[in-house]
Amino acid sequence: MNLSPEIIDEIKFRNNIETVVSSYVTLKRAGSNFNGSCPFHSEKTPSFTVFPSTQSFYCFGCGAGGDAITFVMRMENLDYISAVRLLAERSGVKLPEEQIRSDGKNEISRQRILNMNKDALDFFKKSLFDDKTGEIARSYLLEKRKLSMEIINHFQLGFAPNSFGALHDYLKKLGYSDEEMIVGFLCGKSSKTGNAFDYFRNRIIFPIIDVTGNVVAFGGRVMDDSTPKYLNTSDTPAFKKSKNLFALNFAKNNCEKMLILCEGYMDVISLHASGFENAVATLGTAITSEQARIFSRYTKKVVISYDSDEAGQRAADKAFKLLQEVGIDVRIIKMDNAKDPDEYIKKNGANKFASLLEASKPRFEFECDRAFAKYNINNIEEKVKASRELCYFIANCPSDVERELYCRKLSTLIDIPANSILSDVNTIIKKNSSKNKKTEVSELYRQSSGIGDRINPESSYNIKASKTEEAILGLMMLKSELLKICVEKLQFDDFVTAFSKKVFEKISNAYREYGKFDLGLIEGDFSLDEISRITKMLSERGRLNCNDEQVLNEYIRVLLSEKQKSTDSDTFESILDAIKKRKNN
Ligand code: CTP
Ligand code: MN
Repeated sequence: MNLSPEIIDEIKFRNNIETVVSSYVTLKRAGSNFNGSCPFHSEKTPSFTVFPSTQSFYCFGCGAGGDAITFVMRMENLDYISAVRLLAERSGVKLPEEQIRSDGKNEISRQRILNMNKDALDFFKKSLFDDKTGEIARSYLLEKRKLSMEIINHFQLGFAPNSFGALHDYLKKLGYSDEEMIVGFLCGKSSKTGNAFDYFRNRIIFPIIDVTGNVVAFGGRVMDDSTPKYLNTSDTPAFKKSKNLFALNFAKNNCEKMLILCEGYMDVISLHASGFENAVATLGTAITSEQARIFSRYTKKVVISYDSDEAGQRAADKAFKLLQEVGIDVRIIKMDNAKDPDEYIKKNGANKFASLLEASKPRFEFECDRAFAKYNINNIEEKVKASRELCYFIANCPSDVERELYCRKLSTLIDIPANSILSDVNTIIKKNSSKNKKTEVSELYRQSSGIGDRINPESSYNIKASKTEEAILGLMMLKSELLKICVEKLQFDDFVTAFSKKVFEKISNAYREYGKFDLGLIEGDFSLDEISRITKMLSERGRLNCNDEQVLNEYIRVLLSEKQKSTDSDTFESILDAIKKRKNN
């Protein structure tokens, strides 16, 4: 079975590493990471670490590492595909094999699926308004979610009855085949009988309508706390999740000033109901670079209005980066007493939300507010703490100009000369890089103390080169801008050891094919132990604070000079060989 990167993405998005791991291991927060006792070896002090920012885990004790998929492979003793299948089932993601056509003959056209979706939507709407069938669903929407009839009709919400065949029979009568329903994602295929059965059952239906008015997909929400909370149409010949936005069909007419990006369907609907008809959401996945480009086609400014919990804020960081990359003026909203925009509006009303929009801040100011809310800056000690946190944030910004500007801004905010702030920032940068050096030296020492390396046997006689390779590969996996530089500057042959060559090749292939890197994209090509080693490269880079272009260039310089040395010695050996041969002849 060939899994597309979109499916892997979706599965990983729905199964974040913290949640997956914590169903097996008790995790404790440690800074931005989590620690626990390693489930793969016995230990007294927890050295098993989960890194939410890279969605990976690594045990500094036994060296096991990977992502959510590899974690499940190890825990449940499964092969790659079975682990993916298990995570897919747990989170309600449908794998493509179940919708692949059985006979492989006539292609099912996009238009045919669009027509079928439109008919299915009619069915869902009829079911919602059917006196009996739709009674509970109507009261859920009207009473529990406080939606008006007008907004229900505007968004064409519907209801999928609690039946395995109602939609199937309806579409059959209209002349659609089982195969079409399966490919179009309206039906699943029973693994026992091979029969088609309704995929959405007993769920509120949210149709996804593209900017030309086609019904391209559906989301279906349960009406209680059962899981999965949502089911969504996977990619079909008529729909690509990563290239669509919920409610863009409405928002496109109200986007000159700005678009509001939310996480949930319900947030968007609430906002539209309160007059913010420029709200959109991604479709159950993190925002993609394709979606960022869509935003840039429609507007110049985006206000991110994600959930106020940590997961939401982390997702906001990612959205921020992607949107900024396409040149959008990005702001972030800060909601104090509500978990999401839907709840905020219900509690505080539309006017208050409008003032939130008004007060939305660019990234650095958002960070400043966060610090000033946490500390009382009229108290000297607390002011020092606040400024230290912000200096750490500034120290992590890769560009000199950016750091300079932030220092000046902070200077006016806390009334301290910009130069003093910059000097603190530079101290942090220096400290970080010397910390790096120390860990690298001790690591080098450990490695060179002669323990055989099964994964990369060549490393023991190419110590400097292999350490350098690992740093470069780690940087490539950690940051997309560095990934791009490496793929452009380096060739497979610039690496010294065979293992690193292979890792580099797989990472660059993933980049060339999908424009990005994720462990999920290369994991099928390596053994579990190899994946552990690869994750180690990534975790170690993530741990260090100096990961910018300058550092990368230095590593590249070292690698190329090491490569030169190893080629020189190769040449030397081959000359010796040749001389020997001549002698023997
Ligand atoms: N989502 C999903 N599958 C899940 C959970 C969430 O596809 N199992 C997607 C949906 O697109 C959802 C969005 O992630 O709209 C945000 O999730 P959440 O905040 O949980 O949902 P809301 O839409 O806000 O729903 P509600 O307010 O009804 O809880
Ligand atoms: Mn919600």
